[in-house]
Amino acid sequence: MTIRASHLPSSLTLVGAGKMGGSMLEGWLAVGLPASGVTVIDPRPSEEMARFCADRGIALNPSRPAISDVLVLAIKPQMLDEAAAQLNGLLGPKTVIVSILAGKTIGDLKGRLPAATAIVRAMPNLPASIGRGATGAAANAEVTEAQRLMADALLRSNGIVEWLSSEDLIDAVTAVSGSGPAYVFHLVECLAEAGAAAGLPADLAQRLARATVTGAGELLFQSDLSPDTLRQNVTSPGGTTAAALQVLMAEPHGLKALMRDAVAAAKRRAEELSG
Ligand SMILES: NC(=O)c1ccc[n+]([C@@H]2O[C@H](COP(=O)([O-])OP(=O)(O)OC[C@H]3O[C@@H](n4cnc5c(N)ncnc54)[C@H](OP(=O)(O)O)[C@@H]3O)[C@@H](O)[C@H]2O)c1
Repeated sequence: MTIRASHLPSSLTLVGAGKMGGSMLEGWLAVGLPASGVTVIDPRPSEEMARFCADRGIALNPSRPAISDVLVLAIKPQMLDEAAAQLNGLLGPKTVIVSILAGKTIGDLKGRLPAATAIVRAMPNLPASIGRGATGAAANAEVTEAQRLMADALLRSNGIVEWLSSEDLIDAVTAVSGSGPAYVFHLVECLAEAGAAAGLPADLAQRLARATVTGAGELLFQSDLSPDTLRQNVTSPGGTTAAALQVLMAEPHGLKALMRDAVAAAKRRAEELSG
């Protein structure tokens, strides 16, 4: 789905312009959000962010911030209590909150922000910083269709967005796509180590493993074929790939079981952290 500029809000306040907030801000401007409608609130912005705001004409920490159509929360979750009083003052009856705070439920936000009505809770992941993120999002009943489209247009500027039927699915989303990039980074580490064990110089094994995972990821990104079809296409019966896959796909202790356990552990931890 392409981003419709008409769905972008005319005014937006970003609270927390760190790694994620800063990347999202760049994504929004790139898809046409007018900088003149953006306010950034961050008590200690980086020099880079202060320069970026000055260059683009974005209001940074104005003394009396206006109420916006959208308030994006991108502070650390543990800062929510401290920031709550100030945030309440930024909410009007038509403001939709888009929160990316890990572990903070819509209920938690309502509890801290009595002025809040419409809330979208989203879980982006690290590749959002290069516009290739995967975000799961859930909206409460107060979010109107127009507000959902606004949130969708904003989140989509950083990658794909999947709307969830229930907020309860966010912990599983966190376990798959939120934490997932680290699993892939670890795959590169393991492949490189295995390459060194097979006799390659360690730095060569690193370069090959890295290029293989990024290349395969890009191929998957560009292809319409399913991952299993792509896998079967490169696996000749009785060949080298088949020999390796026999190990990786062995039941019950193959990669499938390992990944199921890993994702279950991440989901359990997400549940504990939001409890
Ligand atoms: N990074 C990820 O991959 C990722 C993925 C999914 C979700 N998230 C969520 O994204 C949020 C931000 O993460 P991050 O990695 O971008 O953290 P970060 O780089 O630390 O950014 C948070 C920013 O908020 C600022 N801040 C602190 N208190 C504030 C306040 N009262 N009002 C306004 N700004 C305030 C911080 O300033 P100081 O540094 O001066 O405190 C910092 O610039 C977190 O809630 C995290 O759960 C992150």
